Amino acid sequence: MSFHLSIPMPRALAWLTVASVLAACSGQGAVSSASPTPAPASMPSGEAPPMSERDIHTYARPWEARVTDVALDLTADFAAKRVRGTATLAVEAAPSAREIVLDTRDLTVQRVTDGSGRALRFSLGSADAILGAPLTVELPQGTTTLVVQYESSPNAAALQWLDPSQTAGKTHPYLFSQGQAILTRTWIPTQDSPGIRQTYSARITVPKELVAVMSAEHVGEPRETAAGRVYEFRMTHPIPPYLIAIAVGDIAFRSLGPRTGVYAEPVVVDSAAREFVDVEKMIDAAEALYGPYRWGRYDILVLPPSFPFGGMENPRLTFATPTILAGDRSLVSLVAHELAHSWSGNLVTNATWSDFWLNEGFTSYIELRIMEQLYGKERAAMLASLAHRGLVDEIASFGSDTAQTVLHINVAGRNPDDAVTTIAYDKGASFLRMIENTVGRERFDAYLRGYFDRHAFQSITTAEFLRDLREHLIKSDTALEQRLRIDEWVYGPGLPSNVVVPVSDAFGRVEQQAQRFASGTPASSLATANWTTQEWQHFLGSLPEQLSTERMADLDRTFGLTRSGNSEVLFAWLRMAIRNHYEPAMPALERFLTTQGRRKFLKPLYEDLMKTDWGKAEARRIYAEARPLYHAVSRNTIDEIVR
Ligand code: BES
Ligand code: ZN
Repeated sequence: MSFHLSIPMPRALAWLTVASVLAACSGQGAVSSASPTPAPASMPSGEAPPMSERDIHTYARPWEARVTDVALDLTADFAAKRVRGTATLAVEAAPSAREIVLDTRDLTVQRVTDGSGRALRFSLGSADAILGAPLTVELPQGTTTLVVQYESSPNAAALQWLDPSQTAGKTHPYLFSQGQAILTRTWIPTQDSPGIRQTYSARITVPKELVAVMSAEHVGEPRETAAGRVYEFRMTHPIPPYLIAIAVGDIAFRSLGPRTGVYAEPVVVDSAAREFVDVEKMIDAAEALYGPYRWGRYDILVLPPSFPFGGMENPRLTFATPTILAGDRSLVSLVAHELAHSWSGNLVTNATWSDFWLNEGFTSYIELRIMEQLYGKERAAMLASLAHRGLVDEIASFGSDTAQTVLHINVAGRNPDDAVTTIAYDKGASFLRMIENTVGRERFDAYLRGYFDRHAFQSITTAEFLRDLREHLIKSDTALEQRLRIDEWVYGPGLPSNVVVPVSDAFGRVEQQAQRFASGTPASSLATANWTTQEWQHFLGSLPEQLSTERMADLDRTFGLTRSGNSEVLFAWLRMAIRNHYEPAMPALERFLTTQGRRKFLKPLYEDLMKTDWGKAEARRIYAEARPLYHAVSRNTIDEIVR
């Protein structure tokens, strides 16, 4: 593979590499157009659907008038920290419609015209902290195009504008977006609902030394103009707007396989390419199970460390945190997860954020099927077992009869981002694993394969999934229906008793060693040879909650935990260190909190600190320093914790 040949290159050459890759990618149009044509969304009828089927996180009334395509012409102004330009929207309207409503948040709208440049009257409603403000535009009969001239705010929640010091290379600024769940409206005025699918295209002007990438196909080669370098993109499949994504920075590329590659800053790209060697095989495995990969290329963009998530499944271009670059490929299940979203999430999408588990539960299930195919049953069993323990803990902390533990969640009046818990992921995956176990793998695989084909490029609700399941899998088999206990799983709290508890033999052995340590065996006498990252995670999670400083020091001295370069192992260890006020790990804790911004790591660590007297002051001090480095998504969460 090409990364074996890669050598450090001067920047100008690195750019040539990107240019030649872009040229190669534009040939990929053939791949996407070979996919089946998506079912056309029906014309707005003018008739409102029942309340229960509506997305409460959009101001749009798509049954009256809906956006079908977004064409962006934007300049990324790094000095002002704004994107500005136009969004040209294709709209379809019911004959009775007189206006269209778009979502915006913190946008400045200067002008709206129709396709021929005629000004249209518009008004921005009052702003809600979570939903933003509706942009209502008059829609004279026959209007099919709106051109919105606007700019984003420097505080746009989707966008993070990084100073050079916040990047790996330290010489160029960087911009990236995060749309999910309802943040796209902070940089694009459109109908920001996962049920309103849109194709998109973009012309993006950036400073001439920077590279732009998007969750779309590159069109042609970038052009140099007086205003900067101009990139063009197009996404010809209708996608939910939360999947429109952009990154601009000093970005290089390495090819991994015929349809896969990795983008990252030049100083990171080679280690990223080594970590992700197996991604082409992952696609093959997923295709064998669930049908063709319909998006053409699959590339991964490794972002600067403030990226607030582990990964984000932006189509054709997964965004990933650098904290998964462990050096030994031990954390690549995250790539399997984001890739799995190419079926569950991107091809078949949750219609509303109450149906979020349809995205994440299916994806977490498929993630482990891919991992099993590539690395075997034991690796998948360990991952399932870690997830199960996390799920049981989370349910215990919410309370097993609480609304927070229900799969189909009620997000009314809430920020859907705050409803992201392990329930959607791991209870969702457990539900599907239980069905697989009950009907047999072969039958369930065939069902899922058909499910993706039947709903390709559509957004569906939980009720629609259950209808499909009953029609195509259960087929009036009342004994099966009873055994599955579907309504209990989907609409009830806690974990139904027909859950299949994953068993890992390796973890059984790990637990024995944790037991030995707990009863006084020195760390150096434990049988830990050749343990994988997952075994270390499980070991740390199996130790007693309270350990003396000596025992902590024994573990640390023997296993080098404080200086672990594996983010998951370090994270598990730092939680123990806080719980036991183990001073020698505190500098490492501070470093971890100030050099990466992944919310999954930040949130528990700050919470743990805030639970102790000494920790409160530390949390406040560290957060004051770190907050400006975090993305708005992480800041929002941590602001609620550190007060
Ligand atoms: N789509 C999610 C990230 C997300 C969820 C962003 C909700 C905004 C709102 C992504 O696929 C994801 O689940 N990421 C996980 C990794 C995964 C392996 C569990 C993460 O970021 O930790
Ligand atoms: Zn996911």
